[in-house]
Amino acid sequence: MSHDQNEFIATVVERSNLGDYTQAREQFSWEEVKKHFTWYETGKVNMAYEAIDRHVDEGNGARTALLYSDAVREEAYSFLDLSEGSNRFGNVLRKYGISKGDRVFIFMPRSPELYLSLLGTLKVGAIVGPLFEAFMETAVKDRLLDSEAVALITVPQLLPRINRDELPQLKHIFVVGGGAQEQEGFIDYDAEMAAASDELELEWLSLEDGMILHYTSGSTGKPKGVYHVHNAMIQHYYTGKVVLDLREDDIYWCTADPGWVTGTSYGIFAPWLNGVTNVIRGGRFSPQDWYQTIVSNKVTVWYSAPTAFRMLMSAGDEVIKQFDLSTLRHVLSVGEPLNPEVVRWGTKAYNQRIHDTWWMTETGAQLICNYPGMVIKPGSMGKPLPGIEAAIINDQGEELPPYSMGNLAIKTPWPSMMRQVWNNQPKYDEYFRIPGWYVSGDSAYMDEDGYFWFQGRIDDVINSSGERIGPFEVESKLVEHPAVAEAGVIGKPDLVRGEIIKAFVSLREGYEPTQELKDDIYRFVKEGLSAHAAPREIEFKDKLPKTRSGKIMRRVLKAWELDLPAGDLSTIED
Ligand code: WTA
Repeated sequence: MSHDQNEFIATVVERSNLGDYTQAREQFSWEEVKKHFTWYETGKVNMAYEAIDRHVDEGNGARTALLYSDAVREEAYSFLDLSEGSNRFGNVLRKYGISKGDRVFIFMPRSPELYLSLLGTLKVGAIVGPLFEAFMETAVKDRLLDSEAVALITVPQLLPRINRDELPQLKHIFVVGGGAQEQEGFIDYDAEMAAASDELELEWLSLEDGMILHYTSGSTGKPKGVYHVHNAMIQHYYTGKVVLDLREDDIYWCTADPGWVTGTSYGIFAPWLNGVTNVIRGGRFSPQDWYQTIVSNKVTVWYSAPTAFRMLMSAGDEVIKQFDLSTLRHVLSVGEPLNPEVVRWGTKAYNQRIHDTWWMTETGAQLICNYPGMVIKPGSMGKPLPGIEAAIINDQGEELPPYSMGNLAIKTPWPSMMRQVWNNQPKYDEYFRIPGWYVSGDSAYMDEDGYFWFQGRIDDVINSSGERIGPFEVESKLVEHPAVAEAGVIGKPDLVRGEIIKAFVSLREGYEPTQELKDDIYRFVKEGLSAHAAPREIEFKDKLPKTRSGKIMRRVLKAWELDLPAGDLSTIED
């Protein structure tokens, strides 16, 4: 056990939306949460209505919904502005024949237009697929092909990464901020928006209709389209209330990009379902800019990630003194293990406990969390949300006693649980192979107080700076390089990023193992797949360890790297 179980950080909070955890758990029912929504009475469902339009209908249209800033723009939008803007985009989509169930992808850096597009897509009942802006041609193509997307919203600088010839089903490409792209077969988003009506008859859906597709990586195969339905809003709203602890006058900042699930579930849905002001910051990370974002917007609730906190910690406490961060009242983290020393540092540097939360793309919303007012054990992910049963089980599905390491599993179902892996029933079924349980792929243990402690991934999925990377996708790109015969990819522990990507590569005949070649291979992956998936370390090997059936044994590569025993080698080739 790597953590000191006796260490904890307690605090007194005047009030929290959850109140006493044990009591909240005992009294909890999802049925009560559902009563918050207008569809509970009307039967008419649409996430975009509940998150945006409903506030207008309830007389809160003038309230600030979005405070947007990047290097060149600084804009504020009320709920009415977002309602009308997304109505416009809904009308644009309808004009081009896009309707319920169609897949519409968004591939662009953060901007107000991204949010209007996403909401407008939901308003016509289409399924939205957000793509991280760093994806290069192959990554974009794989996702658009798999989902059979019919429309894409993007910006001029990303157009070179979209190979239309290979995407026959992609009928419409809307270009934001591009001016006269019309003649090249692109649709001018800005001209269409200006001409569209700001009134729209929303597509009313049922709770089980499709809402969003987030592509995410597993250890084998191409990325999977994790499919979520409108029903997820029940849990987005509830966790926004009791985990983010959102209240009417909060100014909330989630630092995640909407290309990842945190940037939609908690960068869009949870805050707006709760009617709070949402801060969106475009552009890159720097400690000064981030602290300035808190100061300028008077941020009260801040949701970020361990890599960011580690970088802020290493930037030093002198920087913090230049900023007045006293508006903060609640700070949270997600995406990777949150180191106990970061929690300790946060209590000193910000006078805030950093609340770790655990969940996944597949779970759609937070499941295991630290709650305001609850005792925090630094290094623990916290306790299951009211309404959620979590356990450590073995491969036979037996629940294990406290302190035993095993599969972190969740009793099925819960409101925001994924409903499909797009076009891939076998992959979906793998998660539910033990009847009654969702098996997360994480290993963990539970202590005697019911706190969960993350131990690692059971598969080979890499978590670098909180971004999930499938080794297979990187390996596939590597072997496309003319010099590469075979490649195996692992996560190598890193103090700031959690893990970095390391590739072991064997070369084809006639290639010399030089530094130049390493640089070239790195660039090849970066430009073909994405920067965050490119191997920061490359090691040449004459031969890679393989099973007799020819699968690269990443476990052996990892053992080489970490100087560990390689374990059972009975299946190795020779
Ligand atoms: C990891 C992000 C430790 C975990 C919302 C999980 C964490 C994967 C934590 C999901 C945490 C997430 N502590 N590890 N608090 N939160 N993870 O799909 O391995 O991008 O399975 O979802 O990140 O990553 P994903």
